[in-house]
This record gives sequence, structure tokens and C-alpha cells, in this order.
Amino acid sequence: MQAIQADNLVVRVGGRKGRDAVNGLSLGLGRGVHGLLGPNGAGKTTLIRTLATVQSPTSGTLSLLGTPAGGKLRPVRRRLGYLPQHFGYYKRFKVREFVEYLAWLKEMPPALIPKAVREALERVGLSDRAEDRMKSLSGGMVRRVGIAQAIVNEPELLLLDEPTVGLDPAQRLRFRELVAELGREACVLISTHLVEDVAAACTDVVLVNEGSLVFQGSPADLATAGTASHVGDSPIERGYTALISAKSTGGAW
Ligand SMILES: Nc1ncnc2c1ncn2[C@@H]1O[C@H](COP(=O)(O)OP(=O)(O)OP(=O)(O)O)[C@@H](O)[C@H]1O
Ligand SMILES: [Mg+2]
Repeated sequence: MQAIQADNLVVRVGGRKGRDAVNGLSLGLGRGVHGLLGPNGAGKTTLIRTLATVQSPTSGTLSLLGTPAGGKLRPVRRRLGYLPQHFGYYKRFKVREFVEYLAWLKEMPPALIPKAVREALERVGLSDRAEDRMKSLSGGMVRRVGIAQAIVNEPELLLLDEPTVGLDPAQRLRFRELVAELGREACVLISTHLVEDVAAACTDVVLVNEGSLVFQGSPADLATAGTASHVGDSPIERGYTALISAKSTGGAW
């Protein structure tokens, strides 16, 4: 069974006069660490929000952990982890309280929550900040608390929208080790603009542009799509540029 199976998925955002941010996308993903790449506005956040059951599909079919997106989603939500691109929190919450609250929202058995929260904070290197208030954290630390709440229930499907934004180099390395570990058991989908993250941490790459799938394969396969004439600092970046520029109409930049 694939953790994610989408067929001809369309997701309209911004109401009736809005746009199809995801536009006929078909994708199957199982266990492993999958990197979701694509330019600004490609539809990555909309796709991840849909996979996280925050946003409903407009048409097409979607199955998450074997459950159709139109079916009973509460049991699926207990098995999901989701880090939004932007998230809010009560500033007066302590770090531990915030992660406990999210664990409770995910309907974890209360008796398991304290230990699970301790372990999640340990995994993102924030054990020593557990009793500090959220408002006292740096931006990168807040991001790591976001990662902790996403993994607290040991999800089978983990969706991380730009998790490495604001992380310092040491924390990015630690993050890569963490997702490699998680990807052995779970399906992990990570959106990022950092091609090095994908090269280092991901078993495969999903490239989207204008709401559709442009490429799915290994980082090495993506690298072969580029040539020396394409813009980029590395073979993977040049592969990315080759596949995006083949489709896009070009912008002012
Ligand atoms: N609530 C909304 N109302 C109207 N348009 C929206 C809304 N959310 C997203 N869009 C549009 O949908 C498209 C896809 O946006 P999305 O946020 O999914 O892209 P993204 O790939 O995550 O981009 P980024 O790399 O900048 O995070 C964009 O054209 C965006 O303007
Ligand atoms: Mg986004």
C-alpha cells in the first residue's frame, strides 16, 4: 500500500474565482524520504495542506494511508504529522505545553503524551528549553518545536513544509539524520528550496511546477536532466533548472 496515492488531483484555492493551485497531479509515494521541489507558487504548500487533510481536493482521487480523502479522516489524522509553512502559537505556552497540546489534538492516549513529548524534544535538540516560553525562542528554535510536534505521535505519514528554513548548519545536519531515521519506517515528504537538503537527505525527488508533476525519481536522475548551460551551483540544481525552464513561460526575474 502506498502512503499517498493521488490520481488527477485538482485543488482549487481562493474560492470560486480562485485558481487550481494543484492541477491534475498524479503521484504515488511509499516509505522513504521524498523531497518536494518547485518554484514559488508551484503548488507545494497547497499539495501538502491537501495531504494533511487541511484542504479538500476539488476533483480527482486521493487516498491517504489506505483511506479515501472523502472517507473517515479522524483515524488518518492520528497517524499524520504536519509542519505547516507558517504556524501560530500562544506565546505564553511553554515549549513542552505546546507540544503536549498538539499531541492531545492528535488524540494520542494521554498516558503516552509526557514521554512522547520528552522524546520528540530530545530528537530536535530542545530538551533544555522544554520549560521556556515559546516567546523566548529564536526563529530556528520555533521551527524545531514545529518539527517536534509533527513527529510526536510517530506518524506513518510525515509532511514537512520547508522545515529547514532558519535552521543553522549544525541543526540542518541533525535534521537530515532525523528524517533519514524516520523515513525507514514512514513516508516523509519535505518541501524545500534547498537542493542540498534534497541531495543529502532524500531518497527521491518530486518536482512540481504550475500545479503538476514534472519529475519523480532519484536525485541522481534529476542531475542527469541538466547540462552545463543550465543555471545552478550543482548538477542537481542544473537538472532542476532544465526541467522547470522547459515548462515555465518565464518571469521577470
Ligand atoms: N488562499 C489562497 N487564495 C488564492 N490563491 C492562493 C491561495 N493559496 C495559494 N494560492 C495560489 O496558489 C498557487 C500555489 O501556492 P502555494 O502556496 O501552494 O505554492 P508553493 O509552491 O508552496 O510556493 P512557495 O515556494 O512560495 O511556498 C500560487 O499561485 C498562490 O498564489
Ligand atoms: Mg509553500
